[in-house]
Amino acid sequence: MMNKPTKPIAGVSLEGEERVPVLSLQNVVRSYDEGKSKLEILKGADLNLYEGEMVALVAPSGAGKSTLMHLAGLLEKPQSGEVLIGGRECSKLNDDARTAIRRTEVGFVYQFHQLLPEFTALENIALPQMICGLKRKDAEERARQLLSYMRLAERESHRPAELSGGEQQRVAIARAVANAPRVLLADEPTGNLDPNTSQYVFEALTALVRASGVAALLATHNLELAKQMDRRITLRDGKVVELP
Ligand SMILES: Nc1ncnc2c1ncn2[C@@H]1O[C@H](COP(=O)(O)OP(=O)(O)OP(=O)(O)O)[C@@H](O)[C@H]1O
Ligand SMILES: [Mg+2]
Repeated sequence: MMNKPTKPIAGVSLEGEERVPVLSLQNVVRSYDEGKSKLEILKGADLNLYEGEMVALVAPSGAGKSTLMHLAGLLEKPQSGEVLIGGRECSKLNDDARTAIRRTEVGFVYQFHQLLPEFTALENIALPQMICGLKRKDAEERARQLLSYMRLAERESHRPAELSGGEQQRVAIARAVANAPRVLLADEPTGNLDPNTSQYVFEALTALVRASGVAALLATHNLELAKQMDRRITLRDGKVVELP
């Protein structure tokens, strides 16, 4: 039901040609200055994420999961290395171009929903689309479709405070995919929910990923959820390592 506009990606779906990752981190280095010393978090991290796949990022607290997510979502820049979205080298772009890519190509979900408290569920999903130039009527129509997909049609006029934790997260997921991004980054999206609600929200997210073809990277401490994804990765000594 999600009519994702097909955006051309060089090399994708051409038989015999190599698939181009929708998100690629190449030799990414990120450290923080701590007075005289340097806190090295990512020390040459490499990651490829392909259309339609769900990848779990499982690593101990402080390992750099959120740091990696922020770099992947162009919220921050690495000290060295490259982040590519849809094959485009983002370090070469100016701030306006980075913002445009972030708005249209990347969706974020956080542990705490970060919905706008004074707006309804419907408005929270419509707003990012209107910021990207859609008319209110069209944005609300898509927002309604997404709410209905998330089984929240009856909650469209509720403000976040009038929704349960699981409902808030489902609205946040709908908002994250509202602009049909290529990449969905979810940083402990169920970290604040009880096990049953986590599973339910995760299933809603999975259904959306499968229907839309978006590539999803999910940071989670929940091994039950990680097991249900296509691949699992971790961070070891500042590098991305595949888990069995
Ligand atoms: N802006 C910053 N300035 C200095 N140090 C930072 C900054 N942001 C993160 N760090 C440090 O980088 C390390 C990695 O942080 P990050 O938030 O990426 O961890 P995480 O794997 O997401 O952990 P958690 O599972 O607890 O969310 C931590 O030791 C943290 O203290
Ligand atoms: Mg984190």
